[in-house]
Amino acid sequence: MKKVPNSQQNLQPRLIDQFGRSVDYIRLSITDRCDFRCVYCMSEDMTFLPREEVLSLEECARLVKLFVRLGVSKVRITGGEPLVRKNALWLFQEIGKLKNLKELVLTTNGSQLILHAAALKAAGVKRINLSIDSLNAERFKKITRTGDLGKVLAGLQASIDAGFEGIKLNTVLMHGNNEGEACDLVQFAIDKKIDISFIEEMPLGEVDHTRASTYVSNTDTLKLLKSKYSLLASTKTTGGPARYWQVANSNTKIGFISPHSHNFCENCNRVRITCKGELYLCLGQEDKIELLPLLRTYPNDDQPLIDAIVGSMKIKPKGHDFDLRRAKPAVVRFMSHTGG
Ligand code: 5AD
Ligand code: SF4
Repeated sequence: MKKVPNSQQNLQPRLIDQFGRSVDYIRLSITDRCDFRCVYCMSEDMTFLPREEVLSLEECARLVKLFVRLGVSKVRITGGEPLVRKNALWLFQEIGKLKNLKELVLTTNGSQLILHAAALKAAGVKRINLSIDSLNAERFKKITRTGDLGKVLAGLQASIDAGFEGIKLNTVLMHGNNEGEACDLVQFAIDKKIDISFIEEMPLGEVDHTRASTYVSNTDTLKLLKSKYSLLASTKTTGGPARYWQVANSNTKIGFISPHSHNFCENCNRVRITCKGELYLCLGQEDKIELLPLLRTYPNDDQPLIDAIVGSMKIKPKGHDFDLRRAKPAVVRFMSHTGG
């Protein structure tokens, strides 16, 4: 870890919660809209938020600047699909200028990357997470309901050509759907010299979606992949729910994001901001504070916002509470709203 030599910076409060965890990573959703309707994320006919309830890009930039002043060094822009937001590139350019920010990263469905990959790289985006659940065009369409695999793969290639420091595929495996594609997707990642993570389906969003019956455990996926590849446990950790394995003789790491199987909360280093300006202290809990009213009531005074953000550390919960045996999801919140 690099020390901060400038004593002035030490005058700023840092974000440390009541359990001693330091928050240095924010995930900001800049839109609830998306051009896809993935089955585990959205219903077919979504109603999206009216514009005035959503943070403006200027408000997004102001918030990110404040969090960086408070010691945040990593920012992930998510959605919905962030790149469907008009003028999103401006925000990446603004954030990319922040001196104390070490990592600006993006989660995307890839549909707009053909257009934007090079400009995002130039703006300072270091790494991209690209969601891809199938390499079969028909199945891809079934899962995303509207997505075009060819376009996404072309966007991926544009990103590889743009030279990001890292590209990672995100895959949600589902029983009776794409669960047989784990090895093909890993081989694809190896061939492209990129990483891949398997995300266990989380009980968010639609109440009637039969999660427990489509849920595929990462323990099983890891077992399967170990029978095909030589995997070396990696020490890499991001403070989140992912564990990584290096595929021997390749440039590829495989991540397993397992909110059900592992207790990762004790090292949690992150908070989430929704496109409505709600600051969620934990993905699986309801604890939040509203930043939008403060942004709009005090357009020229950051102190109330700083006080609220620092104060929120007192209510960051110890851990989440997902449980597949429950009749209802612990949190009925769409991922596109909170930011995946
Ligand atoms: N469970 C697991 N992963 C999800 N994602 C969206 N909704 C869910 C869910 N209910 C994933 C997307 C994307 C990432 C941001 O979150 O596939 O890769
Ligand atoms: Fe869009 Fe991502 Fe949700 Fe799919 S998972 S509908 S790509 S926000």
